[in-house]
Amino acid sequence: MPLFDNFGRSIHDLRISITDRCNYRCVYCRTGTNGAAYAELPFEDYLRMARILVGLGITKIRLTGGEPLLRKGIVEFVRSLAQLRTLDGKKPEIALTTNGHLLAEIAQPLKDAGLDRVTVSMDAVDPDRFARITRVPNGYESVLAGVRASRRAGLDPVKINCVLLRGFNEDQIIPFGMFAREERVVVRFIEFMPLEEDRVWTPQIVVTLDEIVSRMSEYLPLEEITHQRSETARRYRFSDGVGEIGIIAPVSHPFCGHCSRIRITSDGKLRTCLFSVWDHDLHELMRRGATDEKLTEFIVKVMEKKEERHHIGEPGFVPASRTMVHIGG
Ligand code: GTP
Ligand code: 5AD
Ligand code: SF4
Repeated sequence: MPLFDNFGRSIHDLRISITDRCNYRCVYCRTGTNGAAYAELPFEDYLRMARILVGLGITKIRLTGGEPLLRKGIVEFVRSLAQLRTLDGKKPEIALTTNGHLLAEIAQPLKDAGLDRVTVSMDAVDPDRFARITRVPNGYESVLAGVRASRRAGLDPVKINCVLLRGFNEDQIIPFGMFAREERVVVRFIEFMPLEEDRVWTPQIVVTLDEIVSRMSEYLPLEEITHQRSETARRYRFSDGVGEIGIIAPVSHPFCGHCSRIRITSDGKLRTCLFSVWDHDLHELMRRGATDEKLTEFIVKVMEKKEERHHIGEPGFVPASRTMVHIGG
């Protein structure tokens, strides 16, 4: 019984945040003073939720945080997720979004456990600038080592997420183009969304898709290639065929019409949209002893409430009830 929402969108993409702790303090995300705000559940609880959701048509599971690699036991968790079977009898695709700081050591064990892909957040390819954005010294070398170890382990493709902020790192666009080609990774530029702890978002600070394409084209021409409808990123290859970049443009080119995502927060709440103003307490039901059937019923009902779209930049925009670090990206 696959999941659909009231707008006819098929929901097959699950994102589970396993902690809202983080060892970085990126300027566009955390204040740096607030710590973890929500509970973490035992892995077996996320696993039960994932099993039920895979039974409802989920085919891809992405682990997020906070920083998911801060949690001990993640390798075993991935191994258990890899035992699940989709409605087609296949292993679900398993991906991870991480800041990469602790990745070098664990990339191979994660791959061996069944992880398919990894996405590493990097907002500069220059060590000093990297430190200024993450507000942690000497991170760049560790993250680069993590990216390389992931490629060596066969996590494929390795994607890099780069959030662009005007006046902070938009001069990194071309260096990231070179980085994508040299390191054989897919670099995805993301338009900054109003989901940060400090209220720094303004429409002017967003570096838009059009601007990114035009800036990159000064370096080398780009050709757009087809992307799956429910994919967040538009994809481009360089005209000489070497290297790929992506642009995730939720602000200037929203993709809500093809949204396939549902999220579980670290404390076991279901979120139907990044910009939801409430969440739905799946874990509380579990705690009270609900059967799988009851949980399934609850999930199906929650899905009927999935928002049609976000309202970034519109008058009367209501901020989400949680910031990015407490949702999971
Ligand atoms: P792939 O599986 O590689 O396609 O990854 P993904 O794009 O689903 O995952 P990733 O975690 O790398 O997401 C990249 C960024 O896209 C996130 O950090 C968000 O900034 C943005 N994003 C992801 N999902 C959504 C969404 O549902 N809505 C909006 N508005 N932005 C999203
Ligand atoms: N807007 C867009 N992307 C964001 N991320 C974190 N905060 C924001 C935001 N406000 C990205 C991070 C990471 C992923 C989890 O989300 O860079 O790659
Ligand atoms: Fe889906 Fe909400 Fe993201 Fe739009 S903003 S793509 S509806 S999660």
